[in-house]
Amino acid sequence: MELQFQTVAIIILFITFLWPIVESQTLRNIPEIKPARVLDAVLQDYAFRAFVTPKTGVTFDGIVPKNLTGIQISALRLRSGSLFTRGVPMYKEFRIPVGIIEQPYVERLVLVYQNLGNQSAMYYPLPGYIYLAPVLGLLAYNGSELSTKIQPELEIEASREPILIDFGSVRPAPDGSKPMCVWVDLQGQINFTNVVSGNRCLSFKQGHFAIAVKANSIPPSSAPLSPPLVPPATSEALKPDKNGGIDSSIWVFAIYAVSGCVLWCCWLAVLVLWIRLYKRRRKIHKMEQAAEGGEPLHMTMIGSMKAPAAMVTRTQPTLETEYVP
Ligand SMILES: *[C@@H]1O[C@H](CO)[C@@H](O)[C@H](O)[C@H]1NC(C)=O
Ligand SMILES: *[C@@H]1O[C@H](CO)[C@@H](O)[C@H](O)[C@H]1NC(C)=O
Ligand SMILES: *[C@@H]1O[C@H](CO)[C@@H](O)[C@H](O)[C@H]1NC(C)=O
Ligand SMILES: *[C@@H]1O[C@H](CO)[C@@H](O)[C@H](O)[C@H]1NC(C)=O
Repeated sequence: MELQFQTVAIIILFITFLWPIVESQTLRNIPEIKPARVLDAVLQDYAFRAFVTPKTGVTFDGIVPKNLTGIQISALRLRSGSLFTRGVPMYKEFRIPVGIIEQPYVERLVLVYQNLGNQSAMYYPLPGYIYLAPVLGLLAYNGSELSTKIQPELEIEASREPILIDFGSVRPAPDGSKPMCVWVDLQGQINFTNVVSGNRCLSFKQGHFAIAVKANSIPPSSAPLSPPLVPPATSEALKPDKNGGIDSSIWVFAIYAVSGCVLWCCWLAVLVLWIRLYKRRRKIHKMEQAAEGGEPLHMTMIGSMKAPAAMVTRTQPTLETEYVP
């Protein structure tokens, strides 16, 4: 009984204290990366179809299906060796330096370019932030055979200098706000880095890139691109999200932590009460045992407690039914 209670207490302790930490970790991810990954596969398929005459080193613009209007795609096929030794000085907004290594090794690879345009916030919702530039994607695939069948991305890494993304014309950031580079990797992990020379971002890996600013630094009237708040707003804890940003996740964390502590204190109180109750019960039990040899003590209920009670008279028949033997 006591052991069970301890186990339950430990589990509750774990949930109340560690759950906020687990929660805050997941808040740093794109909540729903799946639609974006499905989109990657569809765009890879359509980008590969652009290779009518598959010339190496030439950028081909693809045509997206009707349901994806607003998104631009391109494909560039390169020899792995040439990519490593020469890089790609200009591939749309991307400046790819020398020293790119792919994993696993392939003889030829295809770099698929994506510009998500007005669908950026739909596929890459960033609660509390507003995009100042569209989400751009750069993904590497095995280009040895240009069959349009869906294939997984290769890993690529810039081993010397980073890849530079020049966003060109970026929506102006409001006074006093700090635009940030956003990098979302293929698992949905978000990484914020500083913007370089006003409209550029740096990355050593592939993925999706954009420039964004905290939503609360823009007057609400001029913030039409704001993505919808993501998790179902059933919980009190999510209310501060309306103020936006990283601050909001701190708020959520704080609220989780505080409510966790309150819950924990309640449990502690229950535990203390329970122990006290248990001790009293044992005392009474001892009294009962002590009395067993001689005259049995009669028990009666006081509140929720069993307590010994002396009888007034043994032979009063009217009272007998009221006593618990
Ligand atoms: C758009 O259409 C293409 C082809 O018709 C389909 O494969 C894809 O799943 C669709 N995407 C969305 C987001 O509806
Ligand atoms: C995006 O813009 C294109 C025109 O460039 C338009 O046809 C399309 O409906 C827009 N999509 C959304 C989701 O706003
Ligand atoms: C790349 O594609 C070629 C041709 O389909 C295949 O032989 C090779 O094994 C593939 N490489 C990797 C790493 O998948
Ligand atoms: C974010 O990017 C920076 C620079 O590339 C790197 O040092 C850091 O480890 C990254 N953080 C995460 C969580 O990936």
